[in-house]
Amino acid sequence: MFFNKKTEISIDDRLKHIAFIMDGNGRWAKRRALPRSAGHKFGVNSLEKIARICFECGIKYVTVYAFSTENWSRPKNEIDSIIDLLRSYIKRAKEDNTLRYIFLGDKTVLDEKLQDMMNELEEITKNNDKILNIAFNYGGRAEIVNACNTLIASGKNKITEADITNNLYTAHMPDPDLIVRTAGEFRISNFLLWQCAYSEFYITKKLWPDFDKAELKKAIDSFYKRTRRFGGLNKGEE
Ligand code: FPP
Repeated sequence: MFFNKKTEISIDDRLKHIAFIMDGNGRWAKRRALPRSAGHKFGVNSLEKIARICFECGIKYVTVYAFSTENWSRPKNEIDSIIDLLRSYIKRAKEDNTLRYIFLGDKTVLDEKLQDMMNELEEITKNNDKILNIAFNYGGRAEIVNACNTLIASGKNKITEADITNNLYTAHMPDPDLIVRTAGEFRISNFLLWQCAYSEFYITKKLWPDFDKAELKKAIDSFYKRTRRFGGLNKGEE
């Protein structure tokens, strides 16, 4: 295990990829009599802080669920506030340019200017080695269907698991080892459906804007107490 002095969290290469379902921003705001948009704003602060700690610990891939294909059914002002947050986040990320950003999801339905900003951020950060995936207008089922259609269009009439894996938005990166969901719900909400086949889950009641280093440490400690078998048996269990 590699102990990182600054974060006081130990990891090793069993934890390469951590993903977050950042739930509870609305409840966080409601408890403070604030608009839901304020919850999302504080949610972005949490995201920036937690991603930085994960990378400091040595985790190579961080994925966050920022906007799902189902989130379009929310009130327009809430959607607009999330899109505004994305715009200002991209501007900061571009200036900082220490991480590699990859957007998971269908950009094509977004405003063209926003698409350009997203593509530009992916392009200018492509040589950085720590990867932050932002799932935006993302749906796990749509991602799998999209991969299948790409394969059909390429002329395939028989496909393998590897074919699908290599045509997802997450192609060429490891599946998430650990998926953390805040705000206490025990569901996957159409997130990384293919990739989560053998992921470990950590659910906490903490709302996303309150998720901090201490809670991240608890999630990681819990991950290292699990015995991962990937459907098989470990040595000594035969
Ligand atoms: C779930 O909380 C959160 C979302 C649907 C959006 C998450 C978005 C952010 C953290 C900000 C956007 C990120 C970027 C990078 C721009 P909820 O609103 O469902 O909370 P609730 O269940 O308490 O109502």
